Amino acid sequence: MTKVLIFGAMGVMGRNVANCAKAMDDIEIVAGLDREDHLDDPAFGFPVYSSFDKVTEDFDVIIDFSVAPAINGLLDYVEKTGKPCVQCTTGLSEEQLARVKEISKKAPVLRSANMSIGVNLLLSLVKEAAKKLYEKGFDIDIVEQHHRRKADAPSGTAIALADAVNEALDNKMAYVYDRSNRREARPHDEIGVSAVRGGTIAGVHDIIFAGEDEVITFNHTAYSRNIFANGALNAAKFLNGKAAGLYSMQDVLA
Ligand SMILES: NC(=O)c1ccc[n+]([C@@H]2O[C@H](COP(=O)([O-])OP(=O)(O)OC[C@H]3O[C@@H](n4cnc5c(N)ncnc54)[C@H](O)[C@@H]3O)[C@@H](O)[C@H]2O)c1
Repeated sequence: MTKVLIFGAMGVMGRNVANCAKAMDDIEIVAGLDREDHLDDPAFGFPVYSSFDKVTEDFDVIIDFSVAPAINGLLDYVEKTGKPCVQCTTGLSEEQLARVKEISKKAPVLRSANMSIGVNLLLSLVKEAAKKLYEKGFDIDIVEQHHRRKADAPSGTAIALADAVNEALDNKMAYVYDRSNRREARPHDEIGVSAVRGGTIAGVHDIIFAGEDEVITFNHTAYSRNIFANGALNAAKFLNGKAAGLYSMQDVLA
């Protein structure tokens, strides 16, 4: 049995994790954490606190779906206690990402911009496609779509997909987020990354390989947030009892 504390428990993803956990018999949510002013009764059957100091329950792993500014307090706690942490919040600064890496020397940390099986497979597929198609003249662009509430853009997943393509091409690609001020033909050695925001879209990613008279598009569509919640719960089970280190969903799915 893996006992979990949800950081950001009252948010959309936090609630989703709590619901999906009910269908798994080898994992239990024992407590949650959220902002002082965001603690309305979740009726989940576990308490939600406003700080780690108030938590009395014993837990094995933290699942974090919160907001980037809240991450510093979470990382302080993980560094101090060595508690395993599945870190799913996106939009982290370079400094925060460097700190996650540093702390993973003392605690097991699993970080993935996207917890779904499909996107994690896609990361390998686009690498393979980039290696074969780029040299044959195919240009590569990424377009992502998310709900109107999403604060960061482009998505962490779009960046992860761009990084996968770039890695396959010896890191020679430049990322372009806005072409509106440019009046020039598109250079071959860049990846355009664009974001669409609206409605309740759970997450759509298109990786477009555009060649002469033909286009290959890899598409991943999330039809519900359960794919992220179940991925995070499986990651928590994986991380329970692991040695300190930086892990990813690729390790869970291997
Ligand atoms: N890795 C993935 O697969 C994946 C999938 C979906 C969402 N996300 C990311 O997860 C994050 C959360 O998404 P969401 O849709 O649930 O957002 P949300 O705004 O609904 O929830 C965030 C929650 O964090 C809480 N919070 C804010 N400050 C806090 C603090 N100091 N301590 C504890 N909790 C605090 C908020 O009150 C809120 O309840 C976002 O960064 C999103 O991009 C990642």
